[in-house]
Amino acid sequence: QQQAGEALRILNEYAANYFHDFLLNSEEGQLIGLSYFKQRGFRKEIIERFRLGYNAEYNDQFFQTSVAKGHNKDLLEKAGLIKNRNGIYHDVYRGRVIFPIQSMTGRILGFGARILKSNEKAPKYINTPENELYLKSKILYGMYQSRTAIGKQDECFLVEGYTDVISLHQGGVENVVASSGTSLTEDQLRLIGQLTRNLTILYDGDAAGIKAALRGLDMALGQSFNVQLVLLPDGEDPDSFIQKSGVTRFHEFVKEHKQDVISFRLQIGLIDVGSDPVKKSKLVNEIAESISRINKAEDFALQEHYIKTASAKLQVDETGLVNLVNKYIR
Ligand code: CTP
Ligand code: MN
Ligand code: MN
Ligand code: MN
Ligand code: MN
Repeated sequence: QQQAGEALRILNEYAANYFHDFLLNSEEGQLIGLSYFKQRGFRKEIIERFRLGYNAEYNDQFFQTSVAKGHNKDLLEKAGLIKNRNGIYHDVYRGRVIFPIQSMTGRILGFGARILKSNEKAPKYINTPENELYLKSKILYGMYQSRTAIGKQDECFLVEGYTDVISLHQGGVENVVASSGTSLTEDQLRLIGQLTRNLTILYDGDAAGIKAALRGLDMALGQSFNVQLVLLPDGEDPDSFIQKSGVTRFHEFVKEHKQDVISFRLQIGLIDVGSDPVKKSKLVNEIAESISRINKAEDFALQEHYIKTASAKLQVDETGLVNLVNKYIR
């Protein structure tokens, strides 16, 4: 296991260098890959910092080069870099820009590879399949580049995508990691928790973003994070927002729109409830459950604050809500 992990690590390092070099120094890389990044506003310095890459459209150039350099076919396949179709090997990332995914200490664990034109048949991103290095539930994109700033600023922004992390860094916001489209896991939260207790979730303002945020919020409360949430304007993600509006406006927007978990749940919930008493009862229970996740021994005042806010906004009796919250505490 240890040995296999080491071989995979060496292969990933080789592949990252290959794709990065291909982006910067080949004709196709410059013409297609580099132009794509430039057009998205990514400058040379940020391309270097995140070791971004590109692989040729042609079938098996990377595969042939790798094998000639002595890399093992089975390992290349396990790393998700090549595929065997009817006995013929071909590259998995063809004509895609490549985002290496690094561990907290900078080791390359895997890759995300983005298609350049939208295409109904092909997925937008191809990611490394789960293997002994690429354990999706334990990885946060950007952790290596962001860990120092997260500690220094004692706050971590959580975003959805690779390009969100990169654009924020380029704008000077360096305390940010991405959950990479999947919902946040307990292990990912523990990783952030090694650096700070202050988490600000910055998700797209669409229905999917809200749903993903809600799941992450309760988990973070359970791990005693001071967790806040910012919903971006509909149709924007942190990348598009900061590229369009700039870093000053970004910080302003965050300051103006930061919400705590309970207020957010209340706001979203109350829109849906209207005058329906069954829906209202369900919401009261959900809020009570959320509040119950706050560790009462550590955060008594915070829990009391949420109970006051919630009982006022929900128009329910405060003592009744306290009793309900206590019912949820196991
Ligand atoms: N994702 C993925 N596979 C997909 C779509 C998305 O793994 N088919 C992950 C990627 O990590 C992506 C994140 O989910 O970065 C967020 O998805 P999305 O918002 O669609 O992509 P963006 O990061 O905004 O990428 P871009 O701006 O290039 O469209
Ligand atoms: Mn470089
Ligand atoms: Mn979205
Ligand atoms: Mn985007
Ligand atoms: Mn996005």
